[in-house]
Amino acid sequence: MESAIPEHLKTTRSRHRRIPDDYVPPYPSFVARHKPKVARVVMAYFGLQYQGEAPPAAASALGDIAARFADAQGPAHWDRAQYFDQAGYSNVVSVAYWDDAAKFDTWFDAAREAWTGRANGIGRYIEVLRPAVARYETLFSSPDRAEGVAVMAEGMSGEVQEHAYWGGMRDRIPLSQTDEMAPGGKPALERDGSRLRIVPHDNLCLIRSGQDWSDTDAAERKLYLEEVEPVLREGMDFLRDDGVRIGCYTNRYMRVLGADGSPTEKSYGQSWWHSLAALERWAESHPTHVRIFGAAMKYLSTLGPAAKLRLYHEVTVAAAAEQFFEYRDCHARTGMLAAVAVD
Ligand code: HEM
Repeated sequence: MESAIPEHLKTTRSRHRRIPDDYVPPYPSFVARHKPKVARVVMAYFGLQYQGEAPPAAASALGDIAARFADAQGPAHWDRAQYFDQAGYSNVVSVAYWDDAAKFDTWFDAAREAWTGRANGIGRYIEVLRPAVARYETLFSSPDRAEGVAVMAEGMSGEVQEHAYWGGMRDRIPLSQTDEMAPGGKPALERDGSRLRIVPHDNLCLIRSGQDWSDTDAAERKLYLEEVEPVLREGMDFLRDDGVRIGCYTNRYMRVLGADGSPTEKSYGQSWWHSLAALERWAESHPTHVRIFGAAMKYLSTLGPAAKLRLYHEVTVAAAAEQFFEYRDCHARTGMLAAVAVD
């Protein structure tokens, strides 16, 4: 059993974990391990938004960004997913990850100009976090298939201790050893012609929480799709439609797309939060998540490594200077625009 916090990020604690030192979790889980020289990662979400059938401008923008991702300074990993938002628009989001911020900086300006620099009849947005490694954590129910930011890690840990209790997420973030990570300030709107930027606030929180049922056998698939997924969807709809009042600025329940653009058997919830504390409160108190958490705990504890449903997440608490949000021709409740009044 190892700590989720890697040796080189351990510091003298001024804040304590929720668990005693001899705590043993009821089922195994794993975290991504980067090479110690990785100081910062970049997570960049490029979104497209349109109503009805995809217009030609969408295909052209998606082709263009994919070509840019293939550039030498491009990301170490990227994937693409789709969802329908509360206003009925289709959103296609390509998420790209770098473990070298200097590469991203060289790459980004031209890509940004191509994405939001001119009108093409559809909505576009860019949402970027570039957290120091002490500001984020991951968790995987099985160690043999990395997703998201973990794909570019050196590998997976052995079984970690800090999980399967409320507060485990916080305890896995290295900065929690010394910092409460409380939010500071309010998001503000900045206009730059047709581009709208959100000037964010300190300790804004991002979660990407994924589900992969592609390897499940008939019985496990039925259990997931008929018992778990409808409850998850209810929780995701709640956050999408009513999240703002509990500190969730925006929530997207995404379906991952394959290389040919068709849906795969993978999904993820992605949401922006006012604070880590607000996300913790939702996870431990909303009836939907409490139900699926309880069901998954039972199920993972019973099946152990035989479970074929894979769950993972990545959670970041970003400093204000580590955030960038830009929107063009999107509706007023898109992403972080929902956090401010846009007329
Ligand atoms: C089928 C879908 C899901 C299942 C079965 C599930 C189940 C679980 C389980 C078992 C844990 C504890 C993990 C551990 O520490 O070992 C957990 C933690 C958590 N989940 Fe989910 N979850 C699902 C989806 C989501 C989604 C979509 C979100 C939010 C977008 C979310 C938010 C959280 C948070 C914030 C925690 C950490 C709580 C803490 O450590 O304090 N979950 N979930």
